[in-house]
Amino acid sequence: MKKPRIGILGAGFIAGVHANILADDDRVELVGVADLVEDNAARLATRIGHAQTGSSLEDLFRMDVDTIYVTTPNTRHVDPVVAALEQGFNVFCEKPMATDLVGGDRVLAAARDSAGVYNLGMNRRYAWTHDKLKQLIDDRQLAPTSAQFKLNRGELLRPAWTADPAQTGGFLYETTIHQIDLLRYLLGPIATLRCAARQTISSTEFDDFSMLFTFVSGATATLSSCAHSGWSFPFERVEIYGRYATAMTEELERVRYALNLDDTVHTEDYTHIGFADKGGYAKENRLFVDALVNGSAPPVDAEDAAALNLLLACIYESANNNQEIDFAARRREHIG
Ligand SMILES: NC(=O)c1ccc[n+]([C@@H]2O[C@H](COP(=O)([O-])OP(=O)(O)OC[C@H]3O[C@@H](n4cnc5c(N)ncnc54)[C@H](O)[C@@H]3O)[C@@H](O)[C@H]2O)c1
Repeated sequence: MKKPRIGILGAGFIAGVHANILADDDRVELVGVADLVEDNAARLATRIGHAQTGSSLEDLFRMDVDTIYVTTPNTRHVDPVVAALEQGFNVFCEKPMATDLVGGDRVLAAARDSAGVYNLGMNRRYAWTHDKLKQLIDDRQLAPTSAQFKLNRGELLRPAWTADPAQTGGFLYETTIHQIDLLRYLLGPIATLRCAARQTISSTEFDDFSMLFTFVSGATATLSSCAHSGWSFPFERVEIYGRYATAMTEELERVRYALNLDDTVHTEDYTHIGFADKGGYAKENRLFVDALVNGSAPPVDAEDAAALNLLLACIYESANNNQEIDFAARRREHIG
């Protein structure tokens, strides 16, 4: 079988992370890199050795690729993804799928009609810490009854573009989307949600969020996310509780868990693991390439991505209207 031929659109930070991983995967060929700023494309192409360069999606199409990585800024994902899917290309798109419902609907429709494979890059699922939590839950060692999640940042001032919703789509699309995705991934389908949000520092958007979720399983969870708390640790944490059991993450560095009253506290420390594995980037790429070469399901397909996109829209709606939302009903109506 012919190796998948990959082109990357948008040659910034995250493109470099994916390119390094793909360059080490013998199952694919990294053919080309395109960026509005051609110097950025040239710099990344030089780093990985042998790729062609261009400035647009159309340039990548001309390089005879069959798979496109879309790693442009958040509000510039939908158009290239839809164009690529409509022509039958496989697509790996960095988070978010879109920054509103209309965009997400366009991608979902294009993915449903396309011969190509669509995948959304939600690397945090495959971080070693979260892999461990998922394994404890899937192995029924931990049956979640409630949980608290948090993700804080020192954004909005540094870098300044993180305060511009025209580029990010809003703080939840830029940052908290990772924890919002983990809620569903670890605790299952969401039944209802409610969000209280404040505009504390930003003049343009909510930057302080407190959320409450109920799950179809009966579990409940809170998620707190502040854009202007600073960069002091700990800024990222998941704590899941069961019957006399707790499992928690400390950043992407450590998992600590005790599974009954007499259990000792087990600690797994991943401090020494390299960035690409620790962050889940290596595994998400491996699973996507598996889907291309073996026909297995991609890790985060368009239906899954559209449910996440709907969830973000519902959280903002709840914050704006100060109302609880029946998310299970919304999902049935909107996605099916
Ligand atoms: N999953 C993660 O952990 C993670 C981490 C960082 C970034 N991201 C996501 O990756 C995307 C890119 O982020 P980044 O940090 O690499 O940004 P970046 O600013 O470093 O790179 C973006 C690149 O895209 C180029 N670009 C902009 N518009 C373009 C267009 N229309 N066509 C071609 N090129 C274009 C820019 O010139 C720039 O080189 C964002 O959506 C971001 O949310 C994800």
